[in-house]
Amino acid sequence: MKIADINIPEYPLLLAPMEDITDRSFRQICKTFGADLLYTEFVASEALIRNIDKTLKKLAIDAEERPTGIQIYGHRIDAMVEAAKIAEEAKPDLIDINYGCPVKKIANRGAGAGMLRDIPKMIEMTKAIVDAVNLPVTVKTRLGWDSDNLIIDKIAEQLQDTGIKALTVHGRTRTQLYKGTADWSLIGKIKENPNIHIPIIGNGDIKDGPSAKNAFEKYRVDGIMIGRGTIGKPWIFREIKHYLKTGEILPEPNINEKVEIAKLHFKKSLALKEGMKGIYEMRRHFALYFKGLKNFKELRLKLLTSTDENQISDLLDEIKLKYGEPNNS
Ligand SMILES: Cc1cc2nc3c(=O)[nH]c(=O)nc-3n(C[C@H](O)[C@H](O)[C@H](O)COP(=O)(O)O)c2cc1C
Repeated sequence: MKIADINIPEYPLLLAPMEDITDRSFRQICKTFGADLLYTEFVASEALIRNIDKTLKKLAIDAEERPTGIQIYGHRIDAMVEAAKIAEEAKPDLIDINYGCPVKKIANRGAGAGMLRDIPKMIEMTKAIVDAVNLPVTVKTRLGWDSDNLIIDKIAEQLQDTGIKALTVHGRTRTQLYKGTADWSLIGKIKENPNIHIPIIGNGDIKDGPSAKNAFEKYRVDGIMIGRGTIGKPWIFREIKHYLKTGEILPEPNINEKVEIAKLHFKKSLALKEGMKGIYEMRRHFALYFKGLKNFKELRLKLLTSTDENQISDLLDEIKLKYGEPNNS
């Protein structure tokens, strides 16, 4: 797959933008397991244009995680254009526009998935951003606002005509939020449109090799984007790649390897985040890395409440000692 001049390997797997998840540390971990294209969490255009320090920090991208796109959202065209220019200065590989966020306070203001209720504005905003920056611009959206307005296959060409270089579609409507199952049939329909020549990336409910293979074969998408399936499981990229190549399901990493991954992730989080954030933001990941361990309650509680990095490191070693396989690190 090629997005503008960015060469991306065959059957690409993309890490979905996720707020409070896809920071630099997590992106770098996913990259080591084979993620082909990564995105920042969404960045508010209104905060960017006001130089809010916390928001500006979200723009930082390291060499080892490229290619990475910065995703922006907002409801005002002027602010989005300005934000895109600010994002461009951070030198991402591309700029992605979020027209999919279903959160009430965002969508009801007309940003994120709210833009699915005003297609002329969506097209105008997209074109204005494409024209304002030199980087490739891509769009991520949903099927439509609700089940009575499944429009993505009808507007895909208009979006393409604005000059965007790829379109990602999450197979749900805004009203579905994250409920039910993703419906990929409209995504497949976009791929059947002979006038569509930009890459179409499918998203929603990919959680293993077989679901990814099915999506590539049945819906003929150019790439697959994975969100929740990566949280606490960044090795999913390795598993899926292996399955696509061999048809075999790779066993998941043993506890020793999981501890090493969690440690590396933690180390990066500490190095890249200020103050206690590097610790707080790892808690959600730790909970999922070690989900399902038997009699883990006490250790888990300590791991998720400790504010001392050395203690957390010791607790991770304790997990290895208690649950890991001997002589196998
Ligand atoms: C915690 C969380 C945060 C998310 N944040 C964003 C975001 O910032 N931008 C975006 O476009 N989508 C966001 N999403 C949606 C995902 O990118 C993705 O479209 C959705 O989770 C469906 O894919 P999945 O079934 O593989 O998780 C978020 C999803 C989750 C679960």
